[in-house]
Amino acid sequence: MRDVAVIGVGCTEFGEHWGISFRDLFVKAGALALEDAGVTGEKIDALYVGNMSAGRFVEQEHIGALIADYAGLATNNTPSTRVEAACASGGLAFRQAVTSVASGMEDIVVAAGVEKMTDVGTGASVDMLASAADREWEGFAGATFPGLYAMIANDYMHRYPLTREQLAQVAVKNHENGAKNPIAQFRNRITVETVLNSSLVADPLRLFDCSPITDGAAAVVVVPLERAREFTDSPVRVLASAQASDTISLHDRRDISTLDATVAAGKRAFAQAGLTHKDIDMVEVHDCFTIAEICAIEDLGFCKKGEAGRLTADGATALGGEIPVNTSGGLKACGHPVGATGIKQIYEIVSQLRGEAAGRQVDAEIGMAHNVGGTGATVVVHILGA
Ligand code: COA
Repeated sequence: MRDVAVIGVGCTEFGEHWGISFRDLFVKAGALALEDAGVTGEKIDALYVGNMSAGRFVEQEHIGALIADYAGLATNNTPSTRVEAACASGGLAFRQAVTSVASGMEDIVVAAGVEKMTDVGTGASVDMLASAADREWEGFAGATFPGLYAMIANDYMHRYPLTREQLAQVAVKNHENGAKNPIAQFRNRITVETVLNSSLVADPLRLFDCSPITDGAAAVVVVPLERAREFTDSPVRVLASAQASDTISLHDRRDISTLDATVAAGKRAFAQAGLTHKDIDMVEVHDCFTIAEICAIEDLGFCKKGEAGRLTADGATALGGEIPVNTSGGLKACGHPVGATGIKQIYEIVSQLRGEAAGRQVDAEIGMAHNVGGTGATVVVHILGA
């Protein structure tokens, strides 16, 4: 296997993009990544595009071909493949690109993610997202993602010492980071009271415990490490690429407050990289709801079960803390265009490791990305190093 490096990254602003189409969102992110990498289109060997549900959000399928066409690559007959794993589609597209380059099959590969969610109303959106859970056993019974994560929160708070205020601190910290990120959907600072006084979505989760509905796209370019210096003086190495699965239904889990796929993918990633959690300088975790960040910090091994609430309240996960978590603002404040999120995490880590994160810059040489599909049926973990 060959070592792999990221040589360029690009990301659109996340938010409600009434004036930009699905395809134009992708093209914008792709063009930024190619410009950053100093690569022209005809040099690209392959594209892997993370997208969860364009068929339902914008009534467009055959996304691989559409993207190749509108990126100007159809005339080169460049292979282009859609990758789908619900909200982990982006992370998995990155993993496909890394695997392809590592194997020697392809050399210059674009991994991207795109989703346009705001063209439909919230009800439709929530229903489309619910198709990433078990439709027969969860969706048809009325469960939505806020409802499923609320079950995790209730179970967790019953068993471990997490207060409602500590949970709110996750959102406060992520909005603080989002306020410093020019691509974030929400750049407003909030307080614990903002969270506690916001409308109840699924008890105990309130509006400010939830990631929003978002449009956005992100893209990165990967090459074999041995060729990286042809393109850039600051390649970022891929030190590990791991993936794990779990039951799709929450009720089939051994323990709903621990995402076993996160535990497994995290362990595999640390083993591949020959590192431990102590070596990680920053981590982008999948905080689709505040409780998801609490579980992720613990399940990846950054602290013991039941300690992440206190860690968050003590500021250990803030910028400048012991282990900065979600410097981008996370899904909560940066936004969550489901197919693009996993690539945006890579974008954020590369920006941090290259020292280009401006107001939210942390001192980091090694970063970790954690991307979850559903309530944890698919988990993808990457470790990157400067
Ligand atoms: N956090 C903070 N503010 C939010 C928000 C969020 N998550 N979602 C919406 N808002 C704000 C909007 O900006 C808007 O503010 P304004 O009135 O000042 O313009 C207001 O709240 C109402 O927005 P609206 O779009 O009508 O919200 P909604 O009530 O229709 O939807 C949720 C809110 C929480 C139900 C929706 O965002 C949601 O379902 N989120 C979860 C998405 C999800 O499950 N993703 C997959 C995870 S696995």
